[in-house]
Amino acid sequence: MDNDANGVTPVVMLDIASWRPRVDAAEVERHAHALEAGSVLVLPRLAFELAPDETRFLDVRWSDGKAKNISLEGDAIKGARGTPDELAALARMVTRFAADATALVSALFPRYSPHLTRARTSYRPHGAAGRAVSWRKDDTRLHVDAFPSRPNRGERILRVFCNLNPDGEDRVWRVGEPFEPMARALLPRVRPMLPGEATLLAALRVTKAPRSEYDHLMLGLHDAAKSDVGYQRECAQREIRFAPGTTWICYSDQVMHAAASGQFMLEQTTHLPLSALYEPARSPLAVLERITGRKLVV
Ligand code: SIN
Ligand code: FE
Repeated sequence: MDNDANGVTPVVMLDIASWRPRVDAAEVERHAHALEAGSVLVLPRLAFELAPDETRFLDVRWSDGKAKNISLEGDAIKGARGTPDELAALARMVTRFAADATALVSALFPRYSPHLTRARTSYRPHGAAGRAVSWRKDDTRLHVDAFPSRPNRGERILRVFCNLNPDGEDRVWRVGEPFEPMARALLPRVRPMLPGEATLLAALRVTKAPRSEYDHLMLGLHDAAKSDVGYQRECAQREIRFAPGTTWICYSDQVMHAAASGQFMLEQTTHLPLSALYEPARSPLAVLERITGRKLVV
């Protein structure tokens, strides 16, 4: 696919069909450069195989109907309903994906490997569209990921996704403009963090730790993009279709993304510190510090 105006290739295809591939050093450099520049790495031949008794989980009835996703944090499966045996089998499937996705990231990017923190794994049995209760939670609108209750102080959010759809349905994303022009366009609308705000939110347990100014600005960008219908319609964007059996990887704190449609997907979130990156100067923290001219994490 063509470069866009800012020199970021939105999609880079990887001809890899193993969760534990051997990758030579030149390929590692090429993939890392693309990923950290804000490309989505797409592996159309890397499916997550379900065991015969796991195909039953491709059904919304396993959702508890309250949570948006079924998720695994540590050993606990949340947002699902079923008998203890069924929930244990579902947890085994999601755990296997967590191990595969983490192994894939380590194999593709050996420099990351010792620094990776595995966070939540989610299984998304609901359709991507039509569940949003508010514009802020509406992931069919373009956004960068930022977590309101979990400040990350510039740590990266790297996500691995896999489309499991059994009926041939693609997961369809829209991907927006690169991080820097998005931030330059939307930052003027983000209100400054108030003195004492971070301490107060942490004391009230709205956040699990005090927000840095970086976290405040990232949430502000998330909200500014999602709340602006004109921006959603008019900003530079393109559609990407992920067929069933496709895995894809991106920095979701950097890539403007929106899930337009699709059903049945697994997703693994990992965090890594800036010091693990091949090119830290391309991170959202470095870009925002360049734009604002000040340190955003102290
Ligand atoms: C998101 O991470 O914003 C949604 C991704 C998806 O559900 O495909
Ligand atoms: Fe997102």
